[in-house]
Amino acid sequence: MNRKNGFRYVFRRAWSWPGSVEEFVSTLLISPSLHVACGSSRVGDVRVDAFVNADVRGDMVHLPFRDCTFMSVLIDPPWHMPYHLRPKLAKELARVLRPDGVLVFNAPWRIRLRTLRLVDVFWADAPAWRNCPLVMVYRKLA
Ligand SMILES: C[S@@+](CC[C@H](N)C(=O)[O-])C[C@H]1O[C@@H](n2cnc3c(N)ncnc32)[C@H](O)[C@@H]1O
Repeated sequence: MNRKNGFRYVFRRAWSWPGSVEEFVSTLLISPSLHVACGSSRVGDVRVDAFVNADVRGDMVHLPFRDCTFMSVLIDPPWHMPYHLRPKLAKELARVLRPDGVLVFNAPWRIRLRTLRLVDVFWADAPAWRNCPLVMVYRKLA
């Protein structure tokens, strides 16, 4: 536990999205949208990050929102996050999504959760995407 900020797990910001990546992911969002671990990005109706100034200061695995609040959730998590936290993160993202809502996920691992179905995969072969050229879109089952 990091006593200073009260979060259980601590990750640092490693990289920010270039404009073209922001533009693309915005096209996948439906309002009301939540951007988790938003860093310096301005995309999303509500932006939450543990360390960066955002609309809400919060931990991605304990989001301060009620169940089924958002029609879309966007996340570019710290990619070095430990394996054991990934299912926990997925469950938390699904929890705040409304049924039929979409999760836009920019990370190099696959989510496996009964309530989320993979509906789209975008792969980009352009310099702006060199860090993680993969965007997966999951739909929350009704
Ligand atoms: C890969 S960066 C996201 C960068 C973002 N796409 C951008 O364009 O700036 C990951 C972000 O996760 C945030 N973060 C790290 N641990 C977190 C946690 N436990 N809860 C919420 N956000 C966290 C970091 O502060 C960082 O901004």
